[in-house]
Amino acid sequence: MSQEFTVPKIKAVYDEATSAINGANDAAALEDVKNKYLGRKGLINGLFSEIGKVPNEEKKAFGQELNQLKNAATTAWEAKIASLNESTDAPLLFDYSKPGLEQGAGASHILTSTIREISSIFETLGFQVCEGPEVETPFYNFDGLNIPENHPARDFKDNFYLADDLLLRSQTSTVQIRVMEESNPPFRFISPGRVYRPDAVDATHYFMFHQIEGVAVDENVTFGDMKYVLNQFVKGFFGNDIKTRMRPHFFPFTEPSAEIDITCIICGGKGCNVCKYNGWLEVLGCGIIDPNVFTSVNVDAKKYQGFAFGMGVERIAMLKHGINDIRLFYENDLRFLKQFKG
Ligand code: DAH
Repeated sequence: MSQEFTVPKIKAVYDEATSAINGANDAAALEDVKNKYLGRKGLINGLFSEIGKVPNEEKKAFGQELNQLKNAATTAWEAKIASLNESTDAPLLFDYSKPGLEQGAGASHILTSTIREISSIFETLGFQVCEGPEVETPFYNFDGLNIPENHPARDFKDNFYLADDLLLRSQTSTVQIRVMEESNPPFRFISPGRVYRPDAVDATHYFMFHQIEGVAVDENVTFGDMKYVLNQFVKGFFGNDIKTRMRPHFFPFTEPSAEIDITCIICGGKGCNVCKYNGWLEVLGCGIIDPNVFTSVNVDAKKYQGFAFGMGVERIAMLKHGINDIRLFYENDLRFLKQFKG
């Protein structure tokens, strides 16, 4: 705003104040300028107290110009703040009358909420949640689980060995051994956690992912109990109208072993590109615990029986939510994560 001042003193303060305001580029500098010119003890107020000393005939012009000076300096100061506020993210002037900045409520990552959802279903079936370490010895990852010395699953190229006798666990089955070693049956627990395999990364593989292991051991646990528990889980997690089937399979630590398929949640079993046109989706592995596993942790294999199961959390979450690339879980892209705010 250009101003015409005829009183030399006022014009001098105006020129000085406007250039000081223009030169102030942060909150501290603006505060200093405000105090110096516009503050209660500032230069402009100082001029007001000089009015009494101004000769009568000049009083009117002095008073008018002084008011103009005050308005002009105030306007310039406010305009400067507004323009700085626009050019930076952090507001320089806190305006108490403005609505508060919205702080979006945080939410759990989709993998965390999937693990919690699965855990709470098993908790209602009497399972506890136990955790185990991610760095393991071959005993917990292999030997204890009836995976012998020369088994291909132990290969150096298929595991992240840290040393000859130390590796990043490749499965959460390790926790079976850890829990059974430390306590006595009956057991009923699940164990969620990360596992590591040096797989080439693509839409369905990653070098780290999550599994949930489950174990139930007692004096008279049957294959039928396993079927019931896993059916309850599938219906609780995917929906009541989902059906399951069991296919024979092999796992070293269970005998007999099976894989459980569910009717495709996309097409209901008719066949689509998600289920590769066969109507079924594989969701987990399971079986009756091999007596050799009990023996390795000193549980009486004659007295106790049990079942175990294991599932991949990412796979289950991908099936449930129609996610087509495992890498999306780890990229921290909020456009993806925000869709699953639970
Ligand atoms: N550990 C198996 C895997 O990583 C999953 C699994 C299958 C766990 C069958 C089990 C089981 O406890 O009984 O592929």
